[in-house]
Parts: sequence; structure tokens; C-alpha cells
Amino acid sequence: MRGGSVHVVNLHKSYGDVAAVRGISVDVAAGEFFSLLGPSGCGKTTTLRMIAGFEAPTEGEIRIDGEDVARVPANDRPVNTVFQNYALFPFMSVADNVAFGLRYRKLSKAEAKAKVGEALEMVRMEGYAKRKPGQLSGGQQQRVALARAIVLGPRVLLLDEPLGALDAKLRKTLQIELKALQESLGITFIYVTHDQEEALTMSDRLAVMAGGLIEQVGTPEDVYDAPATAYVADFLGSANILNVEVVGSSSEGRVSFRLGPDVLSCRGQGAAGSDMRLVVRPERLLLEPTDEEAGTIDGTVTRTVYQGPTTDVLVRLASGDELVVRRPSERAGQHAPGDKVTVHCRPDAMLLLPPGALTSA
Ligand SMILES: Nc1ncnc2c1ncn2[C@@H]1O[C@H](COP(=O)(O)OP(=O)(O)O)[C@@H](O)[C@H]1O
Ligand SMILES: [Mg+2]
Repeated sequence: MRGGSVHVVNLHKSYGDVAAVRGISVDVAAGEFFSLLGPSGCGKTTTLRMIAGFEAPTEGEIRIDGEDVARVPANDRPVNTVFQNYALFPFMSVADNVAFGLRYRKLSKAEAKAKVGEALEMVRMEGYAKRKPGQLSGGQQQRVALARAIVLGPRVLLLDEPLGALDAKLRKTLQIELKALQESLGITFIYVTHDQEEALTMSDRLAVMAGGLIEQVGTPEDVYDAPATAYVADFLGSANILNVEVVGSSSEGRVSFRLGPDVLSCRGQGAAGSDMRLVVRPERLLLEPTDEEAGTIDGTVTRTVYQGPTTDVLVRLASGDELVVRRPSERAGQHAPGDKVTVHCRPDAMLLLPPGALTSA
């Protein structure tokens, strides 16, 4: 099988007064594992349904392998969809469920049977052909739904929170299996999820969405290490996000800013006087000196939160902000509420960003 490319240009969808999708443009390459990541209600499902052909765009273009599919009905697009709720026929066997999509193909009985067998083998369900969906676990049902989607040989597979109904441990296993399946099939996956860890572990690239728009597109490393906005930084992993005022900037892409009584500097851009967000990951903050380059901020420990391998030390600053400092647990015991501490932060650990969707909304 071969993957198809998907080009979406300025896609909009309104339901009456509700603007579900407000202008999405994205290029998904052939064979790519691409995720749409964002909180509930941000327009992920609506976007996917428009690519599938279940929903007509209010405005915008969708091209699959260069072909404009706007007027192509859903079942004539080289695309198939896997839903969170499996949507299997309860009274049909596993084999008949998988064969269902082949009914309009002019295949002999033997050809259809071979294709069904092949698809079930790919999802490791070859031993379950005669069972009914009700006799399978959730994970097994989702495997059957996958087989039913790939038996038709789509160039693009759309998946809408397919692991959402499964428990955490099974999700992990299926994440790895799905990624391996996508690689061996070579087809394009567009994967919708609100789970940041899922998107980071599986995707070649992902789009972080908010309020019907895309906030940033990039590789998992791009969006985690170099978030474009404070919204993206906050959505992916934990981050300290503080309001700061820019004091000045240099031509080398460095900015100095005021945080309470302290003036610090780091990477970033921003005009003097502008309000920006300082973003620092808790694991990048230290409670002991590093090198001369590091900025220092004085504060008082308010609480420690044990998390097994790491412990979060909460530090109240003179500015009134609270910083979370993540420490290996064996070193966190040195700190107790009321202790005066100095937080050390290397310039490369800090990012000055515009607020983005979350705080500008
Ligand atoms: N058929 C519909 N009629 C009216 N509003 C809808 C419909 N489908 C979705 N919406 C609204 O559009 C927005 C985006 O929904 P959706 O695409 O399902 O988000 P997500 O999948 O990211 O949770 C939400 O505010 C939702 O309530
Ligand atoms: Mg949804």
C-alpha cells in the first residue's frame, strides 16, 4: 500500500453561530503519521470529518494527492476512518465485520476471504474470525475496527481518539502497535487526540490546536522544546508560565526582562515595555549554583510535593509568583516550607513567548 498526501487550505466550518473550525491550513506528507492535538471542543473531530467527507466545509479546500475532493462523496475518497467507539456490527462475526466494506468491490469469495485474513493478521486477530464483537475486549474490538478500515487499502487512515476508551496500560501497548502498523503499511495516518503524551510518542509531526485554529505545527521535539506560544508550552508537559515585562532586547536575539526586583535575560524577542510570558520547565530549574551565566531569583519554599522519582519544590518569589522546581527526590528532602532559597536558571532554559490562545482569549 502507498500513502497519500493531504493538503488542507484555509478550512472553515460553522454550525449556525458556532465556528467549530476557523481557518486551518496544513500539509500532511504521504506516509506521514500526523496528529491533531488539542483540548476537547477545539475542532479536531470536525476537521477530520471534513477530510473524510462526512461534513462539507463552509469554506476552504481539501486535496488528496493533489486532487480536489470537495465534491467527492465520502466512500469514493481514498480515505477510511476509525472511531473511538469501534462502530462494529454486533450481530456479525469478526470476519463479516471486516468483509463488510468489501461488499461493493467485485471480488470472488476466495479473494475476499484472503483479504480479510490478511487484514486480521496485520492486527494480530487472525484467531478470532468467528467471534462476535461482544465476545471481545475493548482493545480487541478496536483491532477489528482497524482491520475493517485497512482491508479497503486506503491511502489515508483517519483515526479519531481510537484509544480513548481503553485503560492506560492497554493504550500504551496499542500506541506502539499502531505506530508499527503505520510504518509497515506505509499509509498516511491523521490521528486525533487530546492526550499530549500519545501525540508526542506516536507522531512524525503534530498540529497543536486551540479554538478552531492551529497554534503550532512541528515535530514532537519542536513543539516540546521550542513552543511557539505560552499556550503550546502549557499544553505540552508542565511549565512555569509567568507574566513579565520586557526591559530591552539585543540584536543577538536576547531579551532582558523584569521579574519582581530582578532583571534577567534569555532567548526571545519582544519590544521594551511589552507584556510577555516567561516559560520555564520545572526540571530545568536548580536550587544550587551552576555557572556564572545562570540567572538567580530569591524566594521562599512554600510546599514540597513528592511524586516518587521526583519531588516538586514550590517557591514563592518576591514578585508574588510561584515557581515549581522539580528535583530528584533524594535531594528534595533538604528543603522545607519557610526555607529561603535561590533559584538558579540558565538562560537556555528560559523562553520568552507571546501568550497564545490560552491567555489571550
Ligand atoms: N453538529 C454540530 N452542531 C453544532 N455544533 C457542533 C457540531 N459539531 C461540533 N460542534 C461544535 O464545534 C466545536 C468543535 O467540536 P469538535 O470538532 O467535536 O471538537 P473536538 O473533536 O476537538 O473535541 C465544539 O464547540 C462543538 O460543540
Ligand atoms: Mg472529538
